[in-house]
Amino acid sequence: MEVRLDPWASAVRVEYEKLFKYFGITPFTAELKEKARKAFGELHPLIRRGVVFGHRDYDKIVEAFARGEPVALLTGFMPSGRFHLGHKMVADQIIYYQRVGFETFIVLADAEAYAVRRLSRRDVINYGLYEYVANLIALGLRKERLHLYFQTNYKTPYYRLLQMFSRRITMAELEAIYGSMEPCKVMSALAQAADILHPELEYFGGFKHVLVPVGADQDPHIRLSRDIADRYEHELGLRRPASTYHRFIIGLDGNKMSSSRPDYAIFLTDPPEEARRKVFKALTGGQPTIREQRELGGHPEKCSVYELFVYHLIDDDNKLRKIYEDCRSGNLLCGECKRLAADLLEKMLSEHQRRLEKAKDLVYEYVEPPDF
Ligand code: TRP
Ligand code: SF4
Repeated sequence: MEVRLDPWASAVRVEYEKLFKYFGITPFTAELKEKARKAFGELHPLIRRGVVFGHRDYDKIVEAFARGEPVALLTGFMPSGRFHLGHKMVADQIIYYQRVGFETFIVLADAEAYAVRRLSRRDVINYGLYEYVANLIALGLRKERLHLYFQTNYKTPYYRLLQMFSRRITMAELEAIYGSMEPCKVMSALAQAADILHPELEYFGGFKHVLVPVGADQDPHIRLSRDIADRYEHELGLRRPASTYHRFIIGLDGNKMSSSRPDYAIFLTDPPEEARRKVFKALTGGQPTIREQRELGGHPEKCSVYELFVYHLIDDDNKLRKIYEDCRSGNLLCGECKRLAADLLEKMLSEHQRRLEKAKDLVYEYVEPPDF
């Protein structure tokens, strides 16, 4: 059987266990988590809770950091729609590693959004600035140790990489990784390899260990970048990047959260009352009747409301465990549970949106936008 991840599909259902078996993604061991906790001071909650479920070479990043060697984080967003809770998971990790002391590279993949999503330049640039950059700032991104750029508006040595990479990669290899290829996908894949590998260049401050936290659908790009790094080790001094993979947050309809189904996604710019209404309509893991819920208990592990708590709304592991157990035992009913989620979400969004208003005025201090 053939198993392939498609980074350009909008609603993939990933069976995470297969990724370990077929692609060599490694699960986090308790030992590695402990090592990371020691080195970084605190584990990121998404790693602690297993939402970030696998990695490549994360141990090497932790060890390099502990030895005091230069480490960088690189990740990115395709600015093709509004910023939702799925994007916030990436943002939370960026901000965490920036605080820990990683040099931080963030790419706004406007070239990719233009090419594969067929949006206008104007739209992707505006999304980039006023959805992605503004929300990142409001969430706590700092200007220190930050390189934030649009793919179509960066430094010459970055574009040189893209040109150079085209020489040592064949169509057959690309098709083996991605399935059928077309020019826009070839360009996007090589651009993403340049995104991931450029922080190692002399021009960008010299070699550093690069960590790329992404959703599991991006692993094909990671594999390509690691292969390319091997092939340019002599010529450019490149080394393999490391990566971590998070599960997707499910939307309120039970599928992957996506801006293409806005009724089932929570956007950080949703008016809080609207977000509240969405939560009340959400698909839960509850039983069809109250009586059955009381007798049989619900299924938090397949509940979109429970995911809101795990991914975004509850920091305290004990509180989270209590909800889990109360749901399983039938003590908690979905109505009550949704009310709690809606309250927490409303509070989070109104606080965030106050910061967002100010953040919108600061975007130009963080990034230089390209021309339309
Ligand atoms: N392809 C990514 C997405 O669809 C965006 C992206 C471009 C990216 N370059 C990157 C992500 C480098 C991580 C690292 O969202
Ligand atoms: Fe989901 Fe809460 Fe209902 Fe359990 S009680 S199924 S966690 S909404």
